[in-house]
Amino acid sequence: MYDFDKIVSRENTNCAKWDAVEKGLLPMWVADMDFQSPPEVMMALQERAQHGVFGYSSGYGDWFEVLIQWMRKRYGWAPQREWISTSPGVVAALFMLVRALTEPGDRIIIQPPVYRPFYYVARSNGCELLENPLYFDGNKYRMDLEQLRQKVDSRVKLMILCSPHNPIGRVWSREELLALGQFCLEHEITIISDEIHSDLVLPDYKHTVLASVSKELEQNMIVCNAPSKTFNIAGIPASNVIIANENLRSAYRRVLRESGLALPNVFAVTAVEAAYTYGEAWLDELLLYLEENYRLTAGFLAERIPEIKLVEPEGTYLLWLDCRSLGLDDKELDSFIKEKAKLLLEPGTIFGTGGNGFQRMNIACPRSRLLVALQRLEKAVRG
Ligand SMILES: Cc1ncc(COP(=O)(O)O)c(C=O)c1O
Repeated sequence: MYDFDKIVSRENTNCAKWDAVEKGLLPMWVADMDFQSPPEVMMALQERAQHGVFGYSSGYGDWFEVLIQWMRKRYGWAPQREWISTSPGVVAALFMLVRALTEPGDRIIIQPPVYRPFYYVARSNGCELLENPLYFDGNKYRMDLEQLRQKVDSRVKLMILCSPHNPIGRVWSREELLALGQFCLEHEITIISDEIHSDLVLPDYKHTVLASVSKELEQNMIVCNAPSKTFNIAGIPASNVIIANENLRSAYRRVLRESGLALPNVFAVTAVEAAYTYGEAWLDELLLYLEENYRLTAGFLAERIPEIKLVEPEGTYLLWLDCRSLGLDDKELDSFIKEKAKLLLEPGTIFGTGGNGFQRMNIACPRSRLLVALQRLEKAVRG
């Protein structure tokens, strides 16, 4: 019903993915999609724009109600209305949460390879970064709680969890989250769970909202999610910060107010309402399209470029390519991808520890474009 094959030029729209890059390279890097948003979102925005007056907003419309319904339906867990706050973006929320919940000198855990801004967030407010690298057995990544037990001390106050995990594509299971949650409760570590990719999981997997794992954990954590990745509206400032614990919530809200960010963007309210209210059918079709893109890529690599191994994804539209068999160092690999394959991917090294020899590829694009990218890669490898 929806046409994800349609090519929509994004050039000259001030977009990061296409306009801020060297011409001639096929951009498959930054985590947004080359698809139009659901038609209902486009229509709602057009209607709002047609009104022509864009003065200060005073509230959130039905934003919170439609979010609650969305989460109840898709995850079997729903926040209470008063638990919900917003932020212009998840990264902004992470910085504000660190400001709200730490003192300089506190330590913050992240689990690389991971979304790069986590590094900056964990070093903000005078905090110290504590890395607990994921364990990779050659096929699958796991959290390493034994290793973490050796590293943790009383200065550790926060963990920033990526769930599902960008860039390695894991959708953490309920058991894994329970074990992590228990660990953090024992060590009095509050978890910030960045669930921005939660709506984008492959059909065989199920996202578990961390707060849904236990009542005790619900009180010891914060969920950050957003419609931005899901409906491809990342350029519209809107994300959710869900906090059941009253003390943590009031600490966050104070920083939000003191940052002058308590009022929403008028287009954000319109887009969020329309997306969560009408976007589900579109999303379900998108997920099938993305799954097919993943299968195409997996088959192509296995058959024609076996030197590049795909780490089997469970969620996100970001594929994690193990390029170590190409025998190139990181600098050589980056220039091989850019200069020989004429692709713009994300070098694994930007995701920190454990990223060497990997590249991240965004496959949220029309299939014809994905095929061009794979053919370019094949040509480069085959010389
Ligand atoms: C894990 C993760 N968190 C946050 C973001 C960005 O969120 P926002 O644009 O809402 O700041 C991304 C974008 O790729 C991401 O992968």
